[in-house]
Amino acid sequence: MNLIQRIILNARIKPLQRMLASQFGNPTGLLGGMLARLMNKGNLIMNTGVVDQMGLTPEHHALDIGFGGGAALGLMLERIKDGKVIGMEMSADMIDKARVTFAEHIKTGRLDLLEGLADSIPLGPSVIDCVSTVNTVYFWPEPMAAFKEILRVLKPGGRLVIGMRPREVMERITLTKYGFTIYDPEDIVRMMDEAGFMEISHVLMKDDEIGYLSIKGMRPTA
Ligand SMILES: C[S@@+](CC[C@H](N)C(=O)[O-])C[C@H]1O[C@@H](n2cnc3c(N)ncnc32)[C@H](O)[C@@H]1O
Repeated sequence: MNLIQRIILNARIKPLQRMLASQFGNPTGLLGGMLARLMNKGNLIMNTGVVDQMGLTPEHHALDIGFGGGAALGLMLERIKDGKVIGMEMSADMIDKARVTFAEHIKTGRLDLLEGLADSIPLGPSVIDCVSTVNTVYFWPEPMAAFKEILRVLKPGGRLVIGMRPREVMERITLTKYGFTIYDPEDIVRMMDEAGFMEISHVLMKDDEIGYLSIKGMRPTA
């Protein structure tokens, strides 16, 4: 983490903390654009690890929920050549930004961008091979509804890979007091199990300065 990231994550003034926290949950405007660039850098190792865990093939149809600055989309486009990458966001500003960054991939039909929410995905049933979502679960108002919705859009045998920071890391960051829900991996595993996922596992990845959790599950084949 560089100095600017440390200052932002640990801002001391309460209204500033609230404002920054809400920007991480829904980046908008000029500040949202700046944070998106910072997140692309700060979360690159995490996004790379999650995309690696997806086991993508060139033909896959993959969905990233809450792509922010689009780090995961770029990594997926490197791996998926004949299938489709779909990025979904609740922030119209992040979608506009991605439309510029990935204009060429949108033009050639390799990338679709959708406005939507994790608990209301604008896709039909059983169309996606793999779903990823990185640093977004903290902001989902209805996580159970979201897990059921992800299960609905996954093909039988399709996988979900979640990237999130561990509780001890989140609790060290001052602004997570405002509007973030902090989970233990067991909370996510329980909700995924209740929603109907199988082969659920989680692992703590320690290959960056602060570490992250990768949580995986599969839609049953029958
Ligand atoms: C902290 S950012 C993470 C961005 C990116 N995934 C990364 O790792 O750098 C969280 C993103 O999730 C989006 N988001 C938050 N809640 C969401 C929801 N319920 N459905 C879809 N996207 C959501 C926000 O708009 C924001 O861009």
